[in-house]
Amino acid sequence: MSNDNKASVKPSEGDSNLSPRRADWADRSVDPPTRALLDEDARYFMHQSLSSPCLSAVRKADGIWIEDTAGRRYMDFHGNNVHHIGYGHPRLVQALKDQMDDLPFAPRRFTNEPAVGLARKLAEIAPGDLGKVLFSTGGSDAIEMALKVARAATGRHKTISFWDAFHGAGFGASSVGGEELFRSGPAGPLLPGTEHVAPFACYRCPYGYADVDGKPDLDTCRTTCANFVRYVLEKEGDVAAVIAEPVRSVPYLPPPGFWHSVRQACDDHGALLIFDEIPNGLGKTGHMFTSDFAGVVPDILVLGKALGGGVVPIAAMLTRPDLDILGDRAIGHYTHEKNPVTCRAALTTIEIIEDEGLVDNAARVGAHALDRLHDMKARHPVIGDVRGIGLLLGVELVLDTTSKEPANDLADTVLYAALDKGLSFKTTFGNILTLTPPLVTTMDQMDQALDILDACLHDVAGASV
Ligand SMILES: Cc1ncc(COP(=O)(O)O)c(C=O)c1O
Repeated sequence: MSNDNKASVKPSEGDSNLSPRRADWADRSVDPPTRALLDEDARYFMHQSLSSPCLSAVRKADGIWIEDTAGRRYMDFHGNNVHHIGYGHPRLVQALKDQMDDLPFAPRRFTNEPAVGLARKLAEIAPGDLGKVLFSTGGSDAIEMALKVARAATGRHKTISFWDAFHGAGFGASSVGGEELFRSGPAGPLLPGTEHVAPFACYRCPYGYADVDGKPDLDTCRTTCANFVRYVLEKEGDVAAVIAEPVRSVPYLPPPGFWHSVRQACDDHGALLIFDEIPNGLGKTGHMFTSDFAGVVPDILVLGKALGGGVVPIAAMLTRPDLDILGDRAIGHYTHEKNPVTCRAALTTIEIIEDEGLVDNAARVGAHALDRLHDMKARHPVIGDVRGIGLLLGVELVLDTTSKEPANDLADTVLYAALDKGLSFKTTFGNILTLTPPLVTTMDQMDQALDILDACLHDVAGASV
């Protein structure tokens, strides 16, 4: 079967492993033992565009650092958003060792103390009345559970979600997702009734509103992006749920009032609101839940990634008690639903985030980083936009600040130059340097990372004033 479609798939939520610069970087950076391991990886693993063949190999992960098999250390400002508390947090590692000694597994028909403890904790800290939970091993599965609950609660099956969104790799998640990489080719046929609208994306408003003095003209657009959700809810008339990330991981922040309008539109049309907080919940944005920042309470909230402390896979779906209506059916029924080890990891991770004040740290260090990025924007004409909240930060590179033509090659070059200097991050949609460091990142570490980025932009993009 042909592989020709590879070259035509547009850049999406991560940097592709098919980049020629990646091959160059590997040629000069990978030592023979690492090359041998990479070759073995490529031999046995299925190839796919965001992982195998891999970039390099790691042998240690500790705090904000990863170390490759040649001994080079990188500040991990990517981390797949699992490393909120830093890699290998000693309190978490000890808790997991103890848990494995005490109770390593529980068949689903038996409950156990860590599982109940985690459920109780999530119910206590969750926004609003989201006091009922179900756990799964991955975010994608938790999204599938959320979709099932929405169908059951409304008696409808349609959804509205954003183009360009990623919600996971399952068929339901791929269908509500809006990225070609996960929707095209062999992925179909996708679920029926999965409507999409253009997302909020003020720097490149998909509805065509122009900036005024370099800023989105919200007075003129009057959040057309939110109005469009209402429009589709009304036209379809029978939508089960709107599902979205409250802050897009690209990153993009919602314009003021966006979520209030959408919440109201959902209520007016009998649709549920599902928030996917898989990468950004639990403090990344400087808020424990991104819905706190959005200022609305969803009907279903999905967590994952960092919930497992960067060690084990666990995700959670939280909803209201009145939506606990599928007692005679199976919604998730995942083998590791009440795994005491994954539940212990999640409970301890939340306790660490609370006890170490990591949400506040993310807000403080993130605000400082954003200031510095704005300063870099003033000096590097190649930066078209900087944006973010907490430790979710984006630097959008363009060839020209007026035409905003994406500088994809440049972004890819900066990525590999930064790796040479010990900083790892990912690019989204080809030209956005996306920085998602852990919540434990200190001010000094942030400065060190941004010095690297500044130097790379200077070296690669030239002109700096
Ligand atoms: C917004 C969002 N939703 C869902 C997922 C899927 O989570 P998982 O990879 O654990 O299935 C991801 C993973 O990157 C994500 O970023």
